[in-house]
Amino acid sequence: MPLEHSLVTDDADFPKFTPLMFEAIHPSGFVDACWPNNLNAEMQKLHASGFVSHKSMDPTVTWTKVTDTETNEIIGVAQWLVLKDQKPPEYDFDGPPGTWENDTEKKYAQDIYRSFTRHRHEVIRNEDLPIVVLSIMTVHPKHQYRGVGTLLMQWGTNVADELNALSVVEATQAGRWLYEKSGFAVKHHYAIQGSGELDRGVTDRLFFMIRPRKSEK
Ligand SMILES: CC(C)(COP(=O)(O)OP(=O)(O)OC[C@H]1O[C@@H](n2cnc3c(N)ncnc32)[C@H](O)[C@@H]1OP(=O)(O)O)[C@@H](O)C(=O)NCCC(=O)NCCS
Repeated sequence: MPLEHSLVTDDADFPKFTPLMFEAIHPSGFVDACWPNNLNAEMQKLHASGFVSHKSMDPTVTWTKVTDTETNEIIGVAQWLVLKDQKPPEYDFDGPPGTWENDTEKKYAQDIYRSFTRHRHEVIRNEDLPIVVLSIMTVHPKHQYRGVGTLLMQWGTNVADELNALSVVEATQAGRWLYEKSGFAVKHHYAIQGSGELDRGVTDRLFFMIRPRKSEK
């Protein structure tokens, strides 16, 4: 089946592929806290609008997609942050109004998002640019093991090699194989967990992985 990789340039794509992302990632306590009720169609539209706002606000964000050209369906997407010239400010995770039931749920989401990104931010603080972050990578369960993830990875690793950038990713167990094949190595195995009053136990366990610059391989 013909697969085509391209950049996401049309905001109208977001509501189309947001459901596939959440179906692919499910279940994840972390994802459910940051994007609540994400299997509900109305909430998926809200979360899709949040992805569009975030992309518009943060110039480092690039989304790429793989389309099955026979059905015209988007079957896999990735979100990359390409940090070239300037270290971006660290901002709190956010979503459109109506994302969370109340302020406590929002604070919890922001707290565990900080836990999720803690190793990424340490690298960004301590290492020289350029740095490429693979922030989201999902392939619809019906289309996994067909090379879609590999196609998505190729875009990011090509960009990283062209820029001689360091690359990082917070990987699930499923993603780890793909990233190792693409030159990443595990640096930390860590838990996502809230802090202080916002500690509700471990939501997910991930691998923080780093891919060296082309010149350092
Ligand atoms: C991880 C993911 C993106 C891989 O996408 P994919 O399109 O299936 O990947 P590919 O078909 O290109 O496979 C790449 C390699 O990884 C292996 N692989 C893919 N999924 C795997 C899994 N769940 N467990 C173990 N290995 C896996 C494949 O066997 C292949 O190896 P090979 O080329 O040596 O045979 C996809 O499984 C997914 O979306 N999972 C759920 C969401 C998730 O965990 N995303 C990663 C977040 S960091």
